[in-house]
Amino acid sequence: MSSLHSPIVCNLPRITIVGAGRVGSTLAQRIAEKNLADVVLLDIIPGMPQGLALDLMEARGIELHNRQIIGTNNYVDTSGSVIVVITAGIPRKPGMSRDDLLKTNAKIVVEAAKNAIAHSPHAILIVVTNPLDVMTYLAWQATGLSRSRVMGMAGVLDSARLETFIALELGVLPADVKAMVLGSHGDLMVPLPRYATVNGIPVTELLDTATIERLATRTRNGGAEIVELMQTGGAFFAPASATSVMVESILLNQSRLLPVAAYLQGEYGLADLVIGVPCRLGCSGIESILELPLSEEETAALKVSAASVRQNIDLAQEILAGNTL
Ligand code: LAC
Repeated sequence: MSSLHSPIVCNLPRITIVGAGRVGSTLAQRIAEKNLADVVLLDIIPGMPQGLALDLMEARGIELHNRQIIGTNNYVDTSGSVIVVITAGIPRKPGMSRDDLLKTNAKIVVEAAKNAIAHSPHAILIVVTNPLDVMTYLAWQATGLSRSRVMGMAGVLDSARLETFIALELGVLPADVKAMVLGSHGDLMVPLPRYATVNGIPVTELLDTATIERLATRTRNGGAEIVELMQTGGAFFAPASATSVMVESILLNQSRLLPVAAYLQGEYGLADLVIGVPCRLGCSGIESILELPLSEEETAALKVSAASVRQNIDLAQEILAGNTL
């Protein structure tokens, strides 16, 4: 073939994923196979992201897409990304306290966010590392980005779990079930069954209160249930799918209304913390936050959830300031 040396440079959108563990690598696969963008997979382990990228590239002919997947240990290769997803961090292991996890992941996430934004100053950040709400807050604080450009993935996953359990209970197609789970990502999350529907029919018309409460409880323990079954590690297929939905809504400017961990400035009576609320996601990131009318009980649950996030943010700040062991 003879080259014509066109001066036009083809700039395809590029998405960076920091952390090539199971969530990060599965997300790379989802993004590439959905033909959404080229992917840079970055990890600190030499050779590991390069190997995964090559493996994904070798599947392209079979999966019928032509997306580039680049594995790297160097942030220079992430330059110009439109979205950066941070999945780096350690999962909680047996015997490890929440503080230990907070301590290790806070440093990893702050460093990753700063490095990524230094090379992609216009990127939108999606944080996936746990404890999710606190890590998203730290990434927002460390980068100084506007709150519309920093968000956490948790609500889409938690809602997908509730939708799954409702679909299983009723024997209906999962895609016909829509649900919203707000609050922090953990056992204090706030499922909102009265807003859940099966093709527009409220779930509260289809299931009794005790059944709904059982499904909500299973949702709150959704991550832990999988950790308990797997023993070595936690969920990654559904977390990767949930993250890819957020990536897609931003990249394609779909304006989907999704539960997203966002920095609040008075919405829901909460300020200076990150927690899951319904957000419209488009090409500029979080385009608006919807303030749903909540019952007294739901408001109280959201407050409890927020108080726990606030406590962990304060602890993380002390850890980063070097005031704890
Ligand atoms: C879970 C992890 C991803 O909920 O937080 O499975």
